[in-house]
Amino acid sequence: MRRLLVAGNWKMHGSRDMAAALIGDIVSATDNLQAADVIVCPPFPFLGLAQKLLADSPVALGGQNISEHQQGAYTGEVSAPMLVEFGCRFVIVGHSERRTLYGENDASVARKFAAAQRSKLIPILCVGETLEERERGETEAVVLRQVQSAVDVAGVEAFADAVVAYEPVWAIGTGRTASPEQAQEVHALIRQKISEQDDTIAGDLRILYGGSVKASNAVSLFGMPDIDGGLIGGASLDGDEFLSICRARG
Ligand code: PGA
Repeated sequence: MRRLLVAGNWKMHGSRDMAAALIGDIVSATDNLQAADVIVCPPFPFLGLAQKLLADSPVALGGQNISEHQQGAYTGEVSAPMLVEFGCRFVIVGHSERRTLYGENDASVARKFAAAQRSKLIPILCVGETLEERERGETEAVVLRQVQSAVDVAGVEAFADAVVAYEPVWAIGTGRTASPEQAQEVHALIRQKISEQDDTIAGDLRILYGGSVKASNAVSLFGMPDIDGGLIGGASLDGDEFLSICRARG
């Protein structure tokens, strides 16, 4: 049985005080969080504070993005080694907001995936179709192309230390969640695609669902056989709600 993994993607929200309060709530509840591996992904400026507050906690820290480069003249970018210095074990790569708003594509996301692993960060590779792509019947082709482009660059063995997050773009921040059956169907396709290349790695791979996950729908989503947790945006900014999601078991 793959262990449930719940990651909170704060996006560009909050303040230093909010970050301290939210992490305080999560840390004080961790004794009751045996069911899941929990990650918080605050904005970069709050990582130092988060690292301090999470020092003796099983809650892990993640970045929301990285540069594909290790260092150099890349104004405004943050490298994987820098995230490691701030205690990050995970990093989100290829979030749909990065793809649509900042021009990231399969090739650059795959390079970020590889850059994360070079620094021993576990990448959380986000994939997902837009509403138009779903309506055109292209969901499978789009999602599997996004997964395969990371396999092509990093090798299937890289997925032994990676996480995939299926996030249908139409469900992110919209309140419109994929049904557990819709999500399960895509998760099974992703696992199948990896399993054609390495069955053992596919069996152990954690595939998260993201897109308007809340405490009220987490149990039914996490109850599906190929949904191994969630990437939580909006609901991760509310300590009680996020903790309820972390405790949800199918
Ligand atoms: P949401 O965001 O939970 O607010 O839909 C998910 C995400 O963007 O990772």
